Amino acid sequence: METQTNEHVIKPADRMTVLPTQFFAKLVGKANAQAAKGRDVINLGQGNPDQPTPPHIVARMQEASANPMYHRYPPFSGYSFLKEAVAARYKEDYGVDVDPATEVAILFGGKTGLVEISQCLLNPGDVCLVPDPGYPDYWSGVALSGAEMSFMPLTADNRFLPDYSVIDEEALKRAKLMFINYPNNPTGAIADSDFYEETVQFARRTGVVVASDFAYGAIGFDGKKPVSFLQTPGAKEVGVEFYTLSKTYNMAGWRVGFAIGNAKVVSLINLIQDHYYCSLFGGIQEAAALALTGPQDCVTELTARYESRREAVFGALDRIGWKADRPGGSFFCWLPVPEGYTSESFADLVLEQADVVVAPGNGFGTHGEGYVRLGLLTSEERLIEAIERIGKLGIF
Ligand SMILES: Cc1ncc(COP(=O)(O)O)c(C=O)c1O
Repeated sequence: METQTNEHVIKPADRMTVLPTQFFAKLVGKANAQAAKGRDVINLGQGNPDQPTPPHIVARMQEASANPMYHRYPPFSGYSFLKEAVAARYKEDYGVDVDPATEVAILFGGKTGLVEISQCLLNPGDVCLVPDPGYPDYWSGVALSGAEMSFMPLTADNRFLPDYSVIDEEALKRAKLMFINYPNNPTGAIADSDFYEETVQFARRTGVVVASDFAYGAIGFDGKKPVSFLQTPGAKEVGVEFYTLSKTYNMAGWRVGFAIGNAKVVSLINLIQDHYYCSLFGGIQEAAALALTGPQDCVTELTARYESRREAVFGALDRIGWKADRPGGSFFCWLPVPEGYTSESFADLVLEQADVVVAPGNGFGTHGEGYVRLGLLTSEERLIEAIERIGKLGIF
């Protein structure tokens, strides 16, 4: 008897086909292949904090996980004590007043909110202004909403800040949302209050909503505390800021972030989240609140650690003759590749011949070409060794 095979065809929705390719998955693959050869690979290509969460936060989580209240569903938009903790931190750190009930949304990490905001605000045919180079997750949300991107080049000549005067007029007419990110990934640049004032004016003039990604808000060097977008008069009328515990408290695995600012945007984010989730585990929310309201010396120590690593790297770069500018914040160094190389050919070379992984700048956008990004996410000894290995290639 003939058996009929009925192949069940799973056809993804069109939406799935527009998602940008994950450039960094390729990088991880190359690094793993090199390590599988038994090589001692120093991976400076990714942005994963290497230190553990401070013990007082972990201890609170251990206790809180036993609280039966948290074993039930949490309130849809999260516990008010966590929103109040964020509001208190913004008041203390930046002198900014936010209403925890209406101006704070709790997120599953900043990444989630950065994707959701595009879905909340953009229709097909709309334009989103996106920094180039920039954090690739901005692209994902724009793609899922069927909108288009118009890139704002970030160049060394303009201190890696966007120049609003050169944005294409046609794109500007359709622009509804923009992303800015300081301290910046990948360039390590920081922004001052003049830039944010200019941004608020630009938003008012054009009607664009500002999404300020402040993921590295706690990490500023040379005694300069990064400025929050929300410190600018009028900022709350035109946008929101995304904040995360991932970097400030080494809590990347915990997935806790916030959208803070404009009440309308916050309510839209809460609305979309009502359909996706039922907020974070209550124990995580309690430990997150403690992170924000408890002692902050762990944050000062962490920033000092990154600054010390930065100095170790720039000392080594100097010794091998690799000329670059120090980052003002974040935990990334943005280094120009030597003449005769592209971002990718240089990254491949240092992986193959020095067993060092750096992220090629073109993965962050076309204006990232000519650079590689190096993360300050391992010990000073290993960072120095990585640079010395590159030095031994005799390129500089
Ligand atoms: C610029 C930037 N924004 C946002 C995030 C998101 O962080 P999380 O989702 O862990 O809050 C990252 C993480 O690497 C980042 O580099």
